[in-house]
Amino acid sequence: MYSQKVIDHFKNPHNQGSIADADAIGQEGNPVCGDIMKIYLKINNNIIEDIKFETLGCAAAIAVSSALTDIAKGKTLDEALLLTKDAIVEDLGGLPAPKIHCSMLGVEALHSAIKQYQTNHK
Ligand code: FES
Repeated sequence: MYSQKVIDHFKNPHNQGSIADADAIGQEGNPVCGDIMKIYLKINNNIIEDIKFETLGCAAAIAVSSALTDIAKGKTLDEALLLTKDAIVEDLGGLPAPKIHCSMLGVEALHSAIKQYQTNHK
Protein backbone atom coordinates (compact mmCIF):
# COMPACT_ATOMS: atom_id res chain seq x y z
CA MET A 1 0.00 0.00 0.00
CA TYR A 2 1.28 3.47 -0.84
CA SER A 3 1.11 6.33 1.69
CA GLN A 4 -1.21 9.24 0.91
CA LYS A 5 1.87 11.41 0.24
CA VAL A 6 3.15 8.97 -2.40
CA ILE A 7 -0.26 8.98 -4.07
CA ASP A 8 -0.41 12.80 -3.99
CA HIS A 9 3.06 13.18 -5.54
CA PHE A 10 2.23 10.57 -8.18
CA LYS A 11 -1.07 12.19 -9.14
CA ASN A 12 0.28 15.74 -9.03
CA PRO A 13 4.05 15.63 -9.47
CA HIS A 14 6.05 18.73 -8.57
CA ASN A 15 8.85 20.06 -10.80
CA GLN A 16 8.11 17.74 -13.70
CA GLY A 17 9.64 18.65 -17.05
CA SER A 18 12.99 19.78 -18.37
CA ILE A 19 15.18 22.92 -18.18
CA ALA A 20 16.31 24.04 -21.64
CA ASP A 21 19.44 25.83 -20.41
CA ALA A 22 20.26 23.44 -17.55
CA ASP A 23 23.71 23.73 -15.97
CA ALA A 24 23.82 19.98 -15.39
CA ILE A 25 21.82 16.90 -16.33
CA GLY A 26 21.97 13.52 -14.63
CA GLN A 27 20.41 10.35 -15.94
CA GLU A 28 20.10 6.94 -14.35
CA GLY A 29 18.33 3.80 -15.41
CA ASN A 30 17.31 0.65 -13.64
CA PRO A 31 18.43 -2.29 -15.77
CA VAL A 32 15.99 -4.64 -14.04
CA CYS A 33 12.73 -2.79 -14.71
CA GLY A 34 13.92 -0.50 -17.52
CA ASP A 35 12.80 2.69 -15.78
CA ILE A 36 14.77 5.87 -16.52
CA MET A 37 15.06 9.14 -14.66
CA LYS A 38 16.59 12.40 -15.81
CA ILE A 39 17.32 15.34 -13.47
CA TYR A 40 17.95 18.89 -14.74
CA LEU A 41 19.68 21.47 -12.53
CA LYS A 42 19.99 25.22 -12.65
CA ILE A 43 22.85 26.17 -10.33
CA ASN A 44 23.89 29.58 -9.05
CA ASN A 45 26.64 30.15 -6.51
CA ASN A 46 26.70 26.42 -5.70
CA ILE A 47 22.99 26.48 -4.86
CA ILE A 48 20.32 24.50 -6.71
CA GLU A 49 18.08 27.33 -7.88
CA ASP A 50 15.86 25.17 -10.03
CA ILE A 51 15.44 21.45 -10.53
CA LYS A 52 13.18 19.45 -12.79
CA PHE A 53 12.76 15.79 -13.60
CA GLU A 54 11.59 13.52 -16.37
CA THR A 55 10.85 9.98 -15.28
CA LEU A 56 9.73 7.04 -17.34
CA GLY A 57 8.80 4.74 -14.55
CA CYS A 58 6.46 3.36 -11.96
CA ALA A 59 4.30 5.33 -9.53
CA ALA A 60 6.91 5.03 -6.79
CA ALA A 61 9.68 6.33 -9.07
CA ILE A 62 7.57 9.34 -10.04
CA ALA A 63 6.65 10.10 -6.41
CA VAL A 64 10.31 9.80 -5.41
CA SER A 65 11.35 12.17 -8.22
CA SER A 66 8.75 14.72 -7.19
CA ALA A 67 9.67 14.60 -3.48
CA LEU A 68 13.38 14.64 -4.27
CA THR A 69 13.11 17.80 -6.36
CA ASP A 70 11.13 19.53 -3.58
CA ILE A 71 13.78 18.61 -1.03
CA ALA A 72 16.81 19.44 -3.20
CA LYS A 73 15.61 22.85 -4.41
CA GLY A 74 17.46 25.62 -2.54
CA LYS A 75 20.11 23.31 -1.13
CA THR A 76 23.83 23.78 -1.72
CA LEU A 77 25.51 21.18 -3.91
CA ASP A 78 27.28 19.71 -0.88
CA GLU A 79 24.00 19.44 1.04
CA ALA A 80 22.32 17.79 -1.95
CA LEU A 81 25.17 15.28 -2.22
CA LEU A 82 24.38 14.19 1.34
CA LEU A 83 20.75 13.36 0.47
CA THR A 84 20.07 9.65 0.69
CA LYS A 85 17.34 7.44 -0.68
CA ASP A 86 16.32 6.72 2.91
CA ALA A 87 15.64 10.43 3.51
CA ILE A 88 13.37 10.55 0.46
CA VAL A 89 11.53 7.37 1.45
CA GLU A 90 11.07 8.75 4.96
CA ASP A 91 9.73 12.05 3.58
CA LEU A 92 7.19 10.06 1.56
CA GLY A 93 5.98 8.19 4.64
CA GLY A 94 7.62 4.97 3.48
CA LEU A 95 7.39 2.75 0.41
CA PRO A 96 6.31 -0.89 0.18
CA ALA A 97 9.38 -3.16 0.48
CA PRO A 98 9.33 -4.30 -3.18
CA LYS A 99 9.37 -0.64 -4.23
CA ILE A 100 12.32 0.53 -2.14
CA HIS A 101 14.67 0.01 -5.09
CA CYS A 102 12.66 2.63 -7.02
CA SER A 103 14.00 5.28 -4.65
CA MET A 104 17.58 4.68 -5.87
CA LEU A 105 17.14 6.23 -9.30
CA GLY A 106 16.31 9.76 -8.16
CA VAL A 107 19.17 10.18 -5.74
CA GLU A 108 21.63 8.61 -8.18
CA ALA A 109 20.51 10.89 -11.03
CA LEU A 110 20.78 13.95 -8.77
CA HIS A 111 24.26 13.00 -7.57
CA SER A 112 25.39 12.25 -11.09
CA ALA A 113 24.23 15.72 -12.27
CA ILE A 114 26.04 17.43 -9.39
CA LYS A 115 29.27 15.48 -9.94
CA GLN A 116 29.16 16.32 -13.64
CA TYR A 117 28.75 20.01 -12.78
CA GLN A 118 31.59 19.92 -10.23
CA THR A 119 33.90 18.18 -12.71
CA ASN A 120 33.14 20.79 -15.37
CA HIS A 121 33.66 23.71 -12.96
CA LYS A 122 36.90 22.72 -11.26
FE1 FES B 1 11.35 0.51 -11.85
FE2 FES B 1 9.98 1.35 -9.84
S1 FES B 1 9.68 -0.48 -10.93
S2 FES B 1 11.76 2.22 -10.66
